[in-house]
Amino acid sequence: MSPRSTTVAIVGAGPAGLVLAHLLRRAGVDTAVHERLTRAELERAARAGVLEHRVVEHLRGLGLADRLVAEGERHGRCEIVCLGERVTVDYGALSGGARHWVYPQQSLVRDLIAAYEADGGTIAFGSPVAAVAADGTGRPVLRTAEGELRAEYAVGCEGAHGVVAAAFPDRAEGPARRYPYDWLTVLARIDRPVAAVRYAVHADGFAGMMPRTADVGRFYLEVPAGERVEEWAPERIRGELGRRLGLGGADPVPGELLETGVLRMRGRVARRMRHGRLLLAGDAAHTVTPSGAKGLNSAVADAADLAGALTADLLGGDTGALDGYQRRRLEAAWRTQEFSDRLLDLLHLPAGLPPEQREFALRLRLERIRRIAAPGPEGADFARAYAGAGQLTAAPVGAVPRPAAPPPSDAAVSPG
Ligand code: PHB
Repeated sequence: MSPRSTTVAIVGAGPAGLVLAHLLRRAGVDTAVHERLTRAELERAARAGVLEHRVVEHLRGLGLADRLVAEGERHGRCEIVCLGERVTVDYGALSGGARHWVYPQQSLVRDLIAAYEADGGTIAFGSPVAAVAADGTGRPVLRTAEGELRAEYAVGCEGAHGVVAAAFPDRAEGPARRYPYDWLTVLARIDRPVAAVRYAVHADGFAGMMPRTADVGRFYLEVPAGERVEEWAPERIRGELGRRLGLGGADPVPGELLETGVLRMRGRVARRMRHGRLLLAGDAAHTVTPSGAKGLNSAVADAADLAGALTADLLGGDTGALDGYQRRRLEAAWRTQEFSDRLLDLLHLPAGLPPEQREFALRLRLERIRRIAAPGPEGADFARAYAGAGQLTAAPVGAVPRPAAPPPSDAAVSPG
């Protein structure tokens, strides 16, 4: 087989890889996308479902959010239950108008694939990249089932433990935290839609109820670190969800459990998102816990920024553009980690706390919950970061950027 070549090889056709591929293609940059999963597997995989205000505004500006806006739902409130009290956080109002969009990740992926294909792009599905090496000039060479693929740049958008990160000298490692608990994750049939994200801070552990579609909800239960899903029979899961979340009245009732798993709770940020002609975006560079729903959002934000930086490098000869990408997005990744960690701290009791001290810890948390639900600087700060107020700080794609403009004024408080 003779080697193929492209300008930017993208490994992974999740939201980050697809947004990047789409933007590069529109700017006239040749791309090749390889995805390990088959198309059916990829379009079926139920993952996240809560999109930030600024991510949707960005996609909308690119013409990539028509279905999302037509079929998605806007959510501007969440509820936090603690000690029998249910506090509503009206983050839409507290943030000055920023709200989430609820739209399943697999639907977004399906839309992005359709848009890319409508533009003439093709994706190699069911086609993993086995390894990435460098040729004599330092250009990446990807080993695929269809033979070698040579590129000017290779971008890892394939989640944690990917082949592009593995080709970094430090394997794109960086500071990491293993939390002292895990989350049992459940996708369940429900009899009515989840009207608002609900968090329960409970003496027996955190629980969460999150919207997905009219008849499917995502639920979480805090469990001991290392727990096995086999310990949790469906009746036990439903009982514990009902008790911790205080389900009743007009709340959805979880019925058939469609998927269950245990998510090992970790945070991690690579020290580098660039090594020469290798680049990383999304989970390939950083893992954030689900708390705050930031993973998908920061992956899209990485891709939007990287598209501008690669275009400036390739078409505008801007040799500093890719380092700018790395700097901006590592800063954003740490803002995101801090937000997610702060929310986790609110939602969980300290590890190993004896039962007789739990009410004290719950009372402290209730104070914090009331403070973030109230108008004032703390409420506004939480609301803006939670909803993703403001704009993505991406360079315009296809245009040669001017020297760095100052970021919008909210960039310092909102995780990217
Ligand atoms: C979710 O939709 O899975 C979700 C939403 C908000 C969170 C965590 C998870 O804080």
